[in-house]
Amino acid sequence: MSLILKRGNLPTTPHTEFYAIPKVLSLEEVHGTYGFSGAFSRKLHVRSYPTEQIRPPVKGSYDLATKAAAVDTLQPYHILTGNMPYGEDALAGRKPIVFGQNTILSISKPTKSTPEDSFFRNGEKHEAYFVQEGTGTLKTEYGNIPIRKGLYLLIPKGTTYQIELTSKNAYFLVMESSYPITFPPHYLNQEGQAKMMAPVVETEIEPPEFQPPRDEKGEFLIDIKHAGRKITRLTLGHHPFDLAGWEGALYPFGFDVKNHHGIAREIHTAPPLHQTFQSGNVPYNGFSICSFVSQMEGWHPKDIPAPYAHYNVDSDEVMFFSNTHYGARKGVIQEGSFTFHPGALPHSPQGRAALKSLATRGKVSNRLAIMLDTMFEPLSITDHGYKYRDKEYALSWHKATLSTNGKEATEALHGT
Ligand SMILES: [Fe+2]
Repeated sequence: MSLILKRGNLPTTPHTEFYAIPKVLSLEEVHGTYGFSGAFSRKLHVRSYPTEQIRPPVKGSYDLATKAAAVDTLQPYHILTGNMPYGEDALAGRKPIVFGQNTILSISKPTKSTPEDSFFRNGEKHEAYFVQEGTGTLKTEYGNIPIRKGLYLLIPKGTTYQIELTSKNAYFLVMESSYPITFPPHYLNQEGQAKMMAPVVETEIEPPEFQPPRDEKGEFLIDIKHAGRKITRLTLGHHPFDLAGWEGALYPFGFDVKNHHGIAREIHTAPPLHQTFQSGNVPYNGFSICSFVSQMEGWHPKDIPAPYAHYNVDSDEVMFFSNTHYGARKGVIQEGSFTFHPGALPHSPQGRAALKSLATRGKVSNRLAIMLDTMFEPLSITDHGYKYRDKEYALSWHKATLSTNGKEATEALHGT
């Protein structure tokens, strides 16, 4: 993240003697990306290293398997994540639905908080949550971030965390990447500020609220995700949230989707204008995350607000519909619908959506959808995703065209 922050207490000069507790040497840890070359933070533990395990590592009580469904045909998918059951905590209950070599998308619908003495750490992927539903707190060694509907939570690989719920349940879309997830570099100037023409403002991020160090002894369990899906449980003899302070550019933060300030155009705006985050080196690898927020449709006297059919051969596209006001798929999607359009296929608005959209020219839509486009990375659907698919989706364009919607749309437009 381009904002470099400093919280708590630590020495002015890195890696010099410091005593957060009198006569107890504080211990420094660097949490870094891209080897020693990317964004990093310097963390100062009050008395223990994060390496001090008191029991041998054991296999975790769950895994996060990404098993591909046995499907041989190329097809678009519509996965009804709203129909997936609620249960477990946010980590043990996370269900991958599509995945590739560097990217995993999952749904988590927890009913419980992370147990008090247990923690999760993704050792292989950076994470971006989108909160569809629920309230609570993301607790990390960097501090706490309040959770609410419409919030993105960006959690760097290697962050130790818990998710505490204050609502009865929650509903998260979870996007994982091998590469750091950041604001797109082309939105930022040479000083790291968001340019004035960008749809995001770097100071509108919600950094973690620093908490006093937990200088406690006991048995603290850390479930680390690694090797594609496995969970290994470590046992530390001290509380992992034991920082006297930290400083740097790598830390979890929140970003409200309402702070994606949509950019409108006289004619249709292509997705790169809706980009909020990216991972890797788009458009050569990694992915782009776009927020389709409420904004004015094109106002050209002959604009067609619905998108064109598109065949983006180097991207697999997934889209999560937070509400049902997305014109191109109205009548097909539900709240929580997740579409997966492989790059090997073109896709388009359904049925008469283009004709219907003429009536929305110059009007503000209430849509909210999150899109992730991979770059040169094919995705596969998991067994779990396949189980909740809309079996008729591949034929939905044809069926929608055959329906009476065209007549209704013409009537709505021309008042006949
Ligand atoms: Fe698309």
